[in-house]
Amino acid sequence: MSRLLRILWPVLLVGAVAIAACTARAVEPVAQFNVPIPPDTEEHPIAIEFMPKTALGYVDWVQALQGGTITPFGSINEGEIEMQPIDFDVVFEVKGDLPDVVYPHKPHTEWLDCRNCHPDIFKMQQGSNPVTMAKILEGEYCGRCHGKVAFPLYDCARCHSKPK
Ligand code: HEC
Ligand code: HEC
Ligand code: HEC
Repeated sequence: MSRLLRILWPVLLVGAVAIAACTARAVEPVAQFNVPIPPDTEEHPIAIEFMPKTALGYVDWVQALQGGTITPFGSINEGEIEMQPIDFDVVFEVKGDLPDVVYPHKPHTEWLDCRNCHPDIFKMQQGSNPVTMAKILEGEYCGRCHGKVAFPLYDCARCHSKPK
């Protein structure tokens, strides 16, 4: 056994370093921003059991709406205009290895009015808003809703969805 170890130690060392490097890489950005892990989703009321879920196990409200699991009214005021979804994406290019962020108008404007975001949260021009992850975590920009009423910031890959 010890003889085998004497021959194999460089291989084992390289393996251990590689594993350590990989895990450090995966958790580092999360640790860097100290993103709180949301509470266990198992504690939702029964009805949530029937909702479609995201890869991380949260309710997928976008899928619930688009797949017809729920059909909310456009407004609680009778006769008021229905939602007017628009379908175009804005890509935020992220420096470094992390996938770029794709902001999709369609699923947002199926829930929200243009005036919910424009011009107070986002000026209506691509690249004109100095969005950073730190500001989002402080509750600005995307963080005005995500982590509060929309899916949690912990679900990095749902926003950082466009690999380089
Ligand atoms: C949930 C928030 C949100 C809602 C609601 C929203 N937008 Fe946007 N919009 C954005 C973001 C984010 C950007 C990109 C800003 C940036 O790049 O800094 C953007 C950019 C734009 C742009 C600029 C595109 C360009 O190429 O410069 C237009 C035009 C626009 N939105 C129109 C609309 C209209 C019309 C509606 C309603 C039907 C709407 N938006 C609803 C978040 C929103
Ligand atoms: C005014 C509130 C609001 C703001 C601001 C906002 N979102 Fe959302 N977002 C929502 C809601 C509501 C949904 C749908 C419900 C859910 O998925 O939790 C959603 C869903 C999404 C989805 C899911 C799309 C899909 O097809 O599954 C992505 C991606 C997303 N938002 C990215 C962003 C990014 C990036 C920003 C900032 C540039 C942003 N959002 C700003 C409210 C907001
Ligand atoms: C609601 C959407 C959303 C979620 C969820 C999200 N991000 Fe971001 N992230 C953004 C946007 C928008 C930017 C700004 C892109 C740019 O630089 O223009 C960004 C930028 C970044 C950057 C670039 C540096 C910086 O400070 O801007 C890093 C690193 C980052 N995010 C890490 C993460 C990690 C790690 C997670 C999960 C714990 C995460 N993000 C979750 C939207 C999101």
